[in-house]
Amino acid sequence: MQEKVRGTPDLEIGQKYGVTFRYIERLITRSQGLNISVLRVSKRIKTLYPKDFKQERTTVWSFKQRGNWATHSGEYRGNWSPYIPRNVLLKYSKPGELVLDYFCGAGTTAVECKLLGRKCIAFDINDRAIELAKRNASFSVESQQLILVEGGSHFKVYEPELSVGDARNLPFLQDNSIDLICAHPPYANIIHYTDSKESDLSFFDIDEFLKEMSKVAKESFRVLKPGRQCAILIGDTRRKKHVVSLGFKLINTYLDAGFKLRELVIKRQHNCKTTGFWYASSIKYNFLLLAHEYLPIFEKPEASLLSSVKEVEMAYGLVAPTLGKPPLKRKLDELETTTVWVLPEKDFEKRLNKNVIDRYSGGDGYSTIDFSSYSENETSFSKNREKKKGLLFVRSPFLSNNPSQSTNDLYLQKVKETVGQNLTKITEGGFIVIQTQDVRIDGYIEPLAKRLVDMLTLDDLWLKEIIVVTQEKANSNTQNSRDCLRIAHQYLLVYEVRK
Ligand SMILES: C[S@@+](CC[C@H](N)C(=O)[O-])C[C@H]1O[C@@H](n2cnc3c(N)ncnc32)[C@H](O)[C@@H]1O
Repeated sequence: MQEKVRGTPDLEIGQKYGVTFRYIERLITRSQGLNISVLRVSKRIKTLYPKDFKQERTTVWSFKQRGNWATHSGEYRGNWSPYIPRNVLLKYSKPGELVLDYFCGAGTTAVECKLLGRKCIAFDINDRAIELAKRNASFSVESQQLILVEGGSHFKVYEPELSVGDARNLPFLQDNSIDLICAHPPYANIIHYTDSKESDLSFFDIDEFLKEMSKVAKESFRVLKPGRQCAILIGDTRRKKHVVSLGFKLINTYLDAGFKLRELVIKRQHNCKTTGFWYASSIKYNFLLLAHEYLPIFEKPEASLLSSVKEVEMAYGLVAPTLGKPPLKRKLDELETTTVWVLPEKDFEKRLNKNVIDRYSGGDGYSTIDFSSYSENETSFSKNREKKKGLLFVRSPFLSNNPSQSTNDLYLQKVKETVGQNLTKITEGGFIVIQTQDVRIDGYIEPLAKRLVDMLTLDDLWLKEIIVVTQEKANSNTQNSRDCLRIAHQYLLVYEVRK
């Protein structure tokens, strides 16, 4: 602890005393009552606002710097980048409206609400976190410092109301009283936020955590005004070298509570080491570093929309799998090593195909099936009696044309059937990689990757990776429409075949 106070880096402390990072983390959480990375942080404010800030326009959000304006710092372990609540607040609320963050932590959302003229109520189960959040939110904003954030008019500053509370139970908040929820829960028990506080959701393992989060989702649905949004940041985790789709599972708990999905944003992480030792290990042990989180933006439907389902049928009658040969880049300098593949626009498809084939066919050959909306020469893959392959690559290029709900259902069914029929043709330990993407129907997101993960629960298949693929220029300022983000990412669902 003395070394920590002196500011010695964790790595050095670890080497000097022969202790792990986890051990240091536990020691600090026990002695300080909260999980912080640095014991002395200067709270001198250099600037109140981010420089050159531009609102995000697509579904891939990527912030090279974590953001250190106002009192923001990386001091609280696992706090979110202030760019996230700033984008959410600007997009889904107006000055003077009431925002709720029930996982307050060090108060990042509360500070952003203060800076952007939103009222804020925030809770955390840990009194010490609330103390820290209060310190972070206690700065003065002079009227001349109020820059013109929205629409050219100055707004009033509201002091956030911060107190200890349990996100699962918010009886003091009235039904339909909140304009926006913006919160960042623990990711099950990956990081502990307290020493051992009862009700701290960071002590629950995945299934229990999801059960508790369904209570949070129900409270969220109750307190939010109809037609308004609830943004939640969540990441996946790994068990036995395979991904556990905590993100998709948490989305299910909010959908089950009655929410609809307005957007499904991918938040890229930048601190992933992919060179040297990591590159070699990634290839040797065939794993990718988790480099993305999900920011689903849920919406509580207006009462009038709760029962009406409208759908415009499009001209896609058939969804058919065809055997094909994908275009390939001849040679790659390096394979991708994280779960986010940002590929150049030129060669995008060739690089994607080459990365999939080189990493997952294991030299045992591969087959590709393309799903198209209609195909005259439908090929039945099951009649093909070739020797077993290391990889089946299922691609769905037609999805970029935004098909209808019934086409999606048919597509999902067909993918499931195709995978089932072809399992025996893949070598044990081989892979099935499914390329898919989210689509928008009637203004809401149809999360096809999540739905496939929900459906593909065969004993012989083990989800290995969820990869996000996007283009280098994906975040240019073009927008789908005034309200919606442009869908700028696809997914590769990588399943390992085990018999
Ligand atoms: C990921 S952190 C939030 C970080 C925050 N966004 C920030 O930027 O500082 C999750 C927080 O949830 C809190 N928490 C855990 N269980 C809780 C519960 N039942 N109710 C309210 N807060 C809880 C933890 O103490 C922790 O501060």
